[in-house]
Amino acid sequence: MIPVLATLAAGWALTARAQGGIPDGVPSFVVDYAPVVYLYSEDKYWPSDISAQLINTEPKVNSEPVANAPNPLTLDNLAELNDFGGENVYLTSKIKPDANPPYLKGVLPNADGETQGAISCAIVTNDHGDGTVDAFYFYFYAFDFGGVYVGQNIGNHVGDWEHNMIRFVDGKPSAVWYSQHSNGQAFEYGTVTKLDGGDRPIVYSANGSHANYATSGTHAYGIPNVNLPSGLIEDHTDEGPFWDPTLSAYWYSYNRTSKAFTSNGSDESVNWLSFLGHWGDEKYPQDDPIQDCVFGIDALCKYTGGPTGPIDKQLDREEVCPDNGILCIVRKILVQRSD
Ligand SMILES: *[C@@H]1O[C@H](CO)[C@@H](O)[C@H](O)[C@H]1NC(C)=O
Ligand SMILES: *[C@@H]1O[C@H](CO)[C@@H](O)[C@H](O)[C@H]1NC(C)=O
Ligand SMILES: *[C@@H]1O[C@H](CO)[C@@H](O)[C@H](O)[C@H]1NC(C)=O
Repeated sequence: MIPVLATLAAGWALTARAQGGIPDGVPSFVVDYAPVVYLYSEDKYWPSDISAQLINTEPKVNSEPVANAPNPLTLDNLAELNDFGGENVYLTSKIKPDANPPYLKGVLPNADGETQGAISCAIVTNDHGDGTVDAFYFYFYAFDFGGVYVGQNIGNHVGDWEHNMIRFVDGKPSAVWYSQHSNGQAFEYGTVTKLDGGDRPIVYSANGSHANYATSGTHAYGIPNVNLPSGLIEDHTDEGPFWDPTLSAYWYSYNRTSKAFTSNGSDESVNWLSFLGHWGDEKYPQDDPIQDCVFGIDALCKYTGGPTGPIDKQLDREEVCPDNGILCIVRKILVQRSD
């Protein structure tokens, strides 16, 4: 009886899953083949509690607080902000990010890989009804440290959503998508490295940017639409702290016909998933004291804008890659990124 009562009291995600359970209605393969993440050994910004972002920010449009916004904001009412500016709403840090407020740091996973007390993952399944089931594993970090370019720090933002997507066909994993900056990489499931040689793909989360890679080491990447005067910038990954995102996660399904979300956990909010706005501060203008742009180039600023959430990540895909006009290459060999 005690585990049942504890489940009711603390919510499904924090108890039953840690005891090895799988939420009602979630196919067991979504758990059995779920990715595990190695954070970068020196990353200063760990996975973060999704709802804590609402406590530490206030919604703004054009840098002005949203009048008559729901207060307090919760995962149950966040999407009400869609009526106050939609995608122009920015959840703006109450303390400016250059002052490094403590919540930006997130929560270091414990020895079991659990971000204790912080629900830092949302797992959304989309059953296409034809044998294909896409499982999205969304990872949340309160802050993204962008990187260093010609000795200067660029591309930071408050709020950071990354994801893997695994496409299952007839209950078997076929391909895995790894999000990286504005795009990512896809691999055949058989190609990627698994934890302990088992079933769960390993993901390496890059220092600060949290871009997801299938291999550890250095990954060079470009900034879309910018010809950098001297080459690329780099992501660094290694086998740092181990994170099992499923141990502290919300569970949902997405209906591709009605475009509605339902909860597969107990007592979990679905409202927040429909929020169209951004999970961090709007990009600071060049004349703001905390902003600093290399050569005055807009794409090379210290702070950029916060990201939109899971709803904006193409939850209903033709292929394992999001459709962005680029050919979806599902790789059969493990390669570093170096575009
Ligand atoms: C769980 O998700 C499935 C789809 O995978 C859905 O059909 C079902 O209604 C959900 N169950 C609960 C208890 O929410
Ligand atoms: C990792 O990120 C931190 C900032 O959080 C930065 O100071 C450090 O130089 C980065 N390390 C590498 C190897 O890029
Ligand atoms: C998805 O939504 C459609 C349209 O509202 C509905 O007919 C269908 O039963 C839903 N599917 C599931 C699995 O709930």
